[in-house]
Amino acid sequence: MSWFKRLAAETLAPLIDASPDDVQAQLVKPPQPEMGDVGFPCFSLAKQLKKAPPAIAAEIAAKMEFPAGGIFIEAKAVGPYVNFVLNTPYLAQKTAGVALADPEAWGTSTEGDGRTVVLDYSSPNIAKPLGVHHIRSTMLGAALSRLYRARGWEVVDMNYLGDWGVTFGQLMVAYKEREKENPDQPVDVHSLLQLYLQYHAGADEDESLADEARAWFKKLEDGDPEAVRLWRIFRDESIKALKKLYARMNVHFPEEGYKGEAFYNDKMQATIDRLRAKGLLVESDGAQVVDLEQWDMPPCLILKKDGATIYATRDLASAEYRHAHYNFDKSLYIVANQQELYFRQIFKVLELMGYDWAKKCEHVKFGMLAFGAGMFGDDAATMSTRKGRVIFLEEVLDRAVEKARALILENARSEEVTANIDSLAEQVGVGAVIFSEFTQRRMKDVTFTWDKVLSLHGDSGPYIQYTHARLSSMLRKYGQALPSAPMWELVTHPVAKELFVKLSEYQDALAAAERENEPSLIATYLLELCAVFNRIYTDKENFRFITDDADMTAARMSMVEALRLTLAHGMGILGLAAPEAM
Ligand code: ARG
Repeated sequence: MSWFKRLAAETLAPLIDASPDDVQAQLVKPPQPEMGDVGFPCFSLAKQLKKAPPAIAAEIAAKMEFPAGGIFIEAKAVGPYVNFVLNTPYLAQKTAGVALADPEAWGTSTEGDGRTVVLDYSSPNIAKPLGVHHIRSTMLGAALSRLYRARGWEVVDMNYLGDWGVTFGQLMVAYKEREKENPDQPVDVHSLLQLYLQYHAGADEDESLADEARAWFKKLEDGDPEAVRLWRIFRDESIKALKKLYARMNVHFPEEGYKGEAFYNDKMQATIDRLRAKGLLVESDGAQVVDLEQWDMPPCLILKKDGATIYATRDLASAEYRHAHYNFDKSLYIVANQQELYFRQIFKVLELMGYDWAKKCEHVKFGMLAFGAGMFGDDAATMSTRKGRVIFLEEVLDRAVEKARALILENARSEEVTANIDSLAEQVGVGAVIFSEFTQRRMKDVTFTWDKVLSLHGDSGPYIQYTHARLSSMLRKYGQALPSAPMWELVTHPVAKELFVKLSEYQDALAAAERENEPSLIATYLLELCAVFNRIYTDKENFRFITDDADMTAARMSMVEALRLTLAHGMGILGLAAPEAM
């Protein structure tokens, strides 16, 4: 809801003896632009006053007067509605004009000032390459991180790596096996995958390997130097590979954000003690659990029969740690929908522990990522490991870049594009994959197909990037400094008003995206903005950007720059690069 609607409501309210909120809630958009821009229906007033709605509309409209040079020109009765007509040049100044005057401030807000949000995202289980399904948490989290920052919040980015568990014992088994042949075997993320596959192939045949793996993990837990040494190597190599991928996707965790499950090993005992002191731990089949029956949930397992801690124990300890260290106003866990029950249990246990901040924790969940048929053509076999058929994110990115390269070269019209094809293909290919995350609300399952993801016309990342490049190229061709006071009345296209209305809604889109933890609302907004612009751009018969009148051209190019700024800002929040030429 644009700010000007609020102004309409405030103007109208005293005339009909209603509250601005009440009026605002009733405002509608007239079906035709000629009818006006904000409409107030008079039906309920008519009932109260026992008069015909059009008569009431006419009476109200007659009473309304607007000073020249304000946001509204007039209010007119159209049937049963009172319709406000916007003063386009004024609106242009309050939107595009504001953006151009201080581009750094455009899209930012101070609303979050003084508040802290902890974001737990990406958080993969390591010691194997990142699977493509991890892109959802990673991209949603990174977008929310940038969004909250733009909204004034202090943001703590946490990558809660799954860096502990029996998988590490499995890798050690395979590593030791190999060491017999090659004592100096190098370890990187690809050889880790090989070790992983080798272990599973072996374990299928030989059941004793599982015991060996458990024994190695036990050694690790007991601090055995060799086990710890290997664990460190496996972990460091995994993080190295992760960081390379993150850099491609515009994701940056500070060093201090890499606090994985292992970090909480020495903090869990205190958590368990507190649970016990509160009388929350009960025995069940030899294990220690928190009973949640009263809340219709299965018990939350804290200590296994053998005394081992588990995922939940660590999450409780990490929640306490985060609260103690960051004193958050919100703590968001950007984790797949499958863990819905799990997080409800965790938050309930925190509440039972007496933490009133438990209500500040929230599971920001999302649906599944599926792949369309023929996604990887005939070489599907090379794209997936036999165990679990994981598709690696890196390969998806590489494939996207390859396809983007072909697409760009096919459409390339300038030397600039072909000369920069490598970086451009990377920006567009990766951008396409990133944007595909945001084409639907996060709870919807996403089906990934190349056609959809890489389309230059549809609701895709490349389409937005292409529009940005087009705007940039228009500005380059124009090549002059923009005026400090554009004569907005010279932007005369009938759709121009709609474009400025759209610009006035940018801040609302960001606010809504924050409120709902839903970056897709920004993507939707950007697509709509591009669509409005294209209606003007393609109407070449009626509208030129470069005209014979210098003031007119300057005003129109100012609109182009404001639009470009907005696109670039929104793309930046989502994690897409904004190419200047494409
Ligand atoms: N490592 C987990 C997984 O890959 C996700 C961790 C989410 N964060 C958390 N605090 N539990 O499924």
